[in-house]
Amino acid sequence: MIQDRPLLHITPPTGWLNDPNGLVHWKGRHHVFYQSDPASLWFGVMQWGHVSSEDLVTWKQHPAALVPSPGADLAGCWSGCIVDDEGVATAIYTGIVKLDNGGKTQSVLIATSTDPELVEWTKDPENPVVIEPPDFEVDAFRDPYVWRDGNGWAMLLGTDLPDGHGGVLLYRSPDLRDWRFRGVLLSGADLPAGAPWTGSVWECPNLAILPSGEALLLISVHDPSTLSLHYTVAVIGTFASDRFIAISSRRLDHGHDCYAAALEKTADGRFLTYGWAWETLSPEDRETQAWSGVMTLPREVGVRDGVLILTPAREIREGATLKTKVESRVVTPNNPLEIVAPSVAVVEATLLLDHKSSFRIALRSSPTSGEELRIDYSGSRGSIVIDRSQASQLVNVLGGQSTAEYPLPYDGRVTLTIIIDGTIVEIFVGNSIAFSERIYPQSADANMIRIESQVATFSEQPATLVVERLTISTFDMSALARAVPALSDALAGPA
Ligand code: FRU
Repeated sequence: MIQDRPLLHITPPTGWLNDPNGLVHWKGRHHVFYQSDPASLWFGVMQWGHVSSEDLVTWKQHPAALVPSPGADLAGCWSGCIVDDEGVATAIYTGIVKLDNGGKTQSVLIATSTDPELVEWTKDPENPVVIEPPDFEVDAFRDPYVWRDGNGWAMLLGTDLPDGHGGVLLYRSPDLRDWRFRGVLLSGADLPAGAPWTGSVWECPNLAILPSGEALLLISVHDPSTLSLHYTVAVIGTFASDRFIAISSRRLDHGHDCYAAALEKTADGRFLTYGWAWETLSPEDRETQAWSGVMTLPREVGVRDGVLILTPAREIREGATLKTKVESRVVTPNNPLEIVAPSVAVVEATLLLDHKSSFRIALRSSPTSGEELRIDYSGSRGSIVIDRSQASQLVNVLGGQSTAEYPLPYDGRVTLTIIIDGTIVEIFVGNSIAFSERIYPQSADANMIRIESQVATFSEQPATLVVERLTISTFDMSALARAVPALSDALAGPA
């Protein structure tokens, strides 16, 4: 069966997609480049795919921006960023060359574009750029992230440190071409107590100096021996005199499917983040699709009172048209709220409950087969559980639960924003906790949203749950559908 291709989310026209790269707001358009191999459904020889959008809702597909060529990126143009160098868009990325002994070299390369649409790129004839190596041995040395401040250009690279921790290396340059090593900006050993597991290799470091004054560092953590434990960690701290002091850290997204998240600074000073949501289909089922990998929607990221704020970009909410609105509905265990949702839907809900009550929200629920993705929350437990074990009848699809702590707010109100789009669901709780989950329902009627109140077993009182407000909005599907080729074209492969 061909799975539902998401329409609001960026997907590759054909083949493979992984990390977001070179996120830049340029001449009024948001540009998203991405690791891509259009000829394969699996990680292969990577190039930079390219889409752009004015409104963050409809995306225009462009030709590949950077493709491997004889020289320092012959075996792949891996992740990197784009900066504005006096009006010249400058991509700084990882070039891969395979060695005869099975290993690879990773170096930093530059390409520039003076094309207002960023379609045409020229690789720098001096590639790779000059890099002073760190004064210790590393294996991973990639994913440059560059910005300019009062001290010139700064660059971060992701690495694995000799002591077994992941790390971020800091470099400085006056001209983007000649880079001097300034030290380890942060290592897994520097994180404050309570940090999540951070593996032995850090990839895709990204740094934002936020309007609130804090520095936000994103790192994607990896350990070659535990392949399934990949996620992005958000570290909140301070950055001054080329030193980063970590204050707190947590997972950026608590779902199964968000990795290599990167930052875009918009013209109005916001930071957006996009991540890679991989397929969790079996290899055989993946081959029924002509493509693989989805970019999570752009999310606004920031810090308020020391807490990470994460919400879908306002353009997405504003671009959607209201379809259904429910207000002040009391939900009892025998009387759930059930609504059929459009296939692309933005659901915003405020639920009012107390410590005795708990709720379940079922998404993409099928009344005939029972397929559904569940969000379970109980006021007394104060944690959210996303359960995708019932979300698909396909065998060999990855299931499992995702969990995050979320104590019941003092006023008893839990706010959720949920975006449903084909095989991806993004769930935001309290404008801070996000879950990205890939699901593959097979039933034609898997489009119900059901809100249930569950019986409190330890109380004589009936559980109370009030849906104070629920709105479901959607988009002009024909505008979204234009952004991707017809499936028959995609199956025919690249021209
Ligand atoms: C992260 C990553 C990067 C690398 C890229 C290759 O997913 O491994 O470190 O540059 O993917 O596609």
